[in-house]
Amino acid sequence: MSARQIMENIYAVGAIDWDRTMFDALVPLPYGTSYNAYLIKGSDKTVLIDTVDPSKFHVLRDNLNDLGLDKIDYIVSNHAEQDHSGSIPDIMQLYPGAELVVNKKGQDILMPLMELNENRIKIVEDRETVSLGDRDLEFIFAPWVHWPETMFTYLKKDKILFSCDLFGSHLATSQLFASNSDKILLEAKRYYAEIMMPYASRIKKHLDTLSQFQIDLIAPSHGPVYDNPKMIIELYSEWISDQVKNEVIVLYVTMHGSTEKIAETLASALIRRNIPVKLLNLEVTDIGEVALSVVDAATVIFASPAVLMGPHPYIVSAAYVLNMLKPKAKYIGIIGSYGWGNKLVNQMTEFLRDLNVEFLDPLLINGYPKAEDLREIENFTEEILNRHQILLRN
Ligand code: FEO
Repeated sequence: MSARQIMENIYAVGAIDWDRTMFDALVPLPYGTSYNAYLIKGSDKTVLIDTVDPSKFHVLRDNLNDLGLDKIDYIVSNHAEQDHSGSIPDIMQLYPGAELVVNKKGQDILMPLMELNENRIKIVEDRETVSLGDRDLEFIFAPWVHWPETMFTYLKKDKILFSCDLFGSHLATSQLFASNSDKILLEAKRYYAEIMMPYASRIKKHLDTLSQFQIDLIAPSHGPVYDNPKMIIELYSEWISDQVKNEVIVLYVTMHGSTEKIAETLASALIRRNIPVKLLNLEVTDIGEVALSVVDAATVIFASPAVLMGPHPYIVSAAYVLNMLKPKAKYIGIIGSYGWGNKLVNQMTEFLRDLNVEFLDPLLINGYPKAEDLREIENFTEEILNRHQILLRN
């Protein structure tokens, strides 16, 4: 790979990681990812915006070499997580005149992670500017997207927002600009669901702040550069809003077919009532797909068999993650099957305790669903329909 020009004197110099399959041992990466870094040559000063994961330091080094730089004056650290900060020590060694530009909280997080010479750190404040000669950088603090120190860097003359993780997508592609690619926007939504969804209210404030800026390009830390920034900003505005869609997501696991029959019967009953539904079998569905699916849905159903009296571990795992991700769903349903006594409802309610939702009356069926149980599923579906109709009216 080599440095790619975004516009005159502004380059993408980061690395594509085609092979990575997991992030933070938590987030599946079905399409790899990239660690974006950007180089800006001002008339007086040259600045590197972020670095790359340490495993790809050699790519960043070679890309900078390609540009024939004799110096870097500043290395901006918008975000201290290692996929962007991990090569800072090596870059500072390679460019001994470079100062690290970071906010105080960023410094506090970076110092325990790596050896840095404090004499080479320049602390910046919110909305402070730094001149590169013919261009100015402005730093916009944006805490909690998704760490407390995160900030944006705005290149004023060229109207480029370097947004760190916000608006990113985990996508290994040689495509520099997103244009209006549906695939890239879908991966941006998956990224939002997995990383940013718990911070929806913070993001709303950041979008309000950004509305004061004219932005021609958004250059995030992962995935392509947005040359139509309005589109991704509008999508984020939709995802973080309180508005939900007339949709039900059914997360299920089955051991002997009973819970699957319940889930499929529910899906059929929803379809008959014109409620879009998506069934996700957690035995074969990764947590990223689950997160992506629940971004907009009004209702999420957990369907589990009883295992040693409690929910199946795959259901527990999904509930734990959704409790952290805090989707905007309005209703949660707990359904499933059991052979003898069970504590499914109590345990699931506890796993989901941080969600601001209404729990539907649970529906637990002893053994394989019989005719009277199927009627109960119809009644359960009517309850969902009634609630969705009220939501849609409002
Ligand atoms: Fe891409 Fe939060 O690091």
